[in-house]
Amino acid sequence: MRDLAGKTAFVTGGASGIGLAMAHAFADAGMRVMLADIEPKPLEAALAGFKGSGREVRGVPCDVARYESVEHAAQAAIDAFGKVHVVCNNAGVSSRNAEEISLTDWRWVIDVNLMGVVHGVRAFLPHLRSHGEGGHFVNTASMAGFLPGIGFSPYTATKFAVVGISEGLATQLAADGIGVSVLCPGWVSTNISDSGRNRQAAYGQAPARVLTDVEKKIAELVKDGMKPADVAALVRKAVQENEFYVFTHPHMRPPLEKRVERFMAAYRKLGPAPQEARS
Ligand SMILES: NC(=O)c1ccc[n+]([C@@H]2O[C@H](COP(=O)([O-])OP(=O)(O)OC[C@H]3O[C@@H](n4cnc5c(N)ncnc54)[C@H](O)[C@@H]3O)[C@@H](O)[C@H]2O)c1
Repeated sequence: MRDLAGKTAFVTGGASGIGLAMAHAFADAGMRVMLADIEPKPLEAALAGFKGSGREVRGVPCDVARYESVEHAAQAAIDAFGKVHVVCNNAGVSSRNAEEISLTDWRWVIDVNLMGVVHGVRAFLPHLRSHGEGGHFVNTASMAGFLPGIGFSPYTATKFAVVGISEGLATQLAADGIGVSVLCPGWVSTNISDSGRNRQAAYGQAPARVLTDVEKKIAELVKDGMKPADVAALVRKAVQENEFYVFTHPHMRPPLEKRVERFMAAYRKLGPAPQEARS
């Protein structure tokens, strides 16, 4: 979608971090933006940050884990702006190491990180198809969707799933003129380490406990991570140029190459593929 001016973006998790930065990047390109978020105060503060800028940015409360809530937020965006073109399924929460995590913790992370994306696609796809002006989904995964090395299983599982859903959607929607990007950042300096602040009552309170050394290390890496605005600039370019994978951290390429090589090494044990054997 080369020309963003005058079009509309809808961003879940838009009150903080990467979502808020994407909202600024899209608004700077002349888009109207709807911020959808579960946290009322940061949502208000985010909207206040646009006051006086001449940008058309609004907010709507939304819990992406509940389909009715996403459907309501989608309708609010359509009512406010007429049409929505770019849908960023970005809201997400982080989880703990596998041995620490309860089944309700698993469900919380899956409902927000995975079902949130499913809900966003379901709520907006008929609308994007119907207005015929083209559209674009940006689904926020993570490098954890490719590199599961640190053992945060629920988070990793949801991010692998978001990569998989997005790859399938891109193929499926190309004929409709609807693009898809999957955002796969490494460490970004946001509030993700404090995800428990957004845990809905339905999932109960997470038991208080001391952070493990790995968790402390990760919180440090996030704190010192890339600026959200730099990530958002890459996302905006990906939407404009219809790029599918949005990678952000060059230093994560070698471990990714190693992982792919492990697949290939295992595969080569089967012998040559039929075509190779013929040539
Ligand atoms: N920060 C990183 O290092 C990093 C790396 C890779 C991927 N990500 C992904 O980026 C996305 C954005 O996270 P962030 O790092 O900006 O963190 P953040 O905590 O700063 O922002 C997340 C936003 O999502 C909102 N949110 C949480 N649960 C919600 C729900 N149920 N419904 C609606 N909104 C909800 C929060 O209120 C918050 O505004 C997430 O999907 C995260 O997994 C982050």
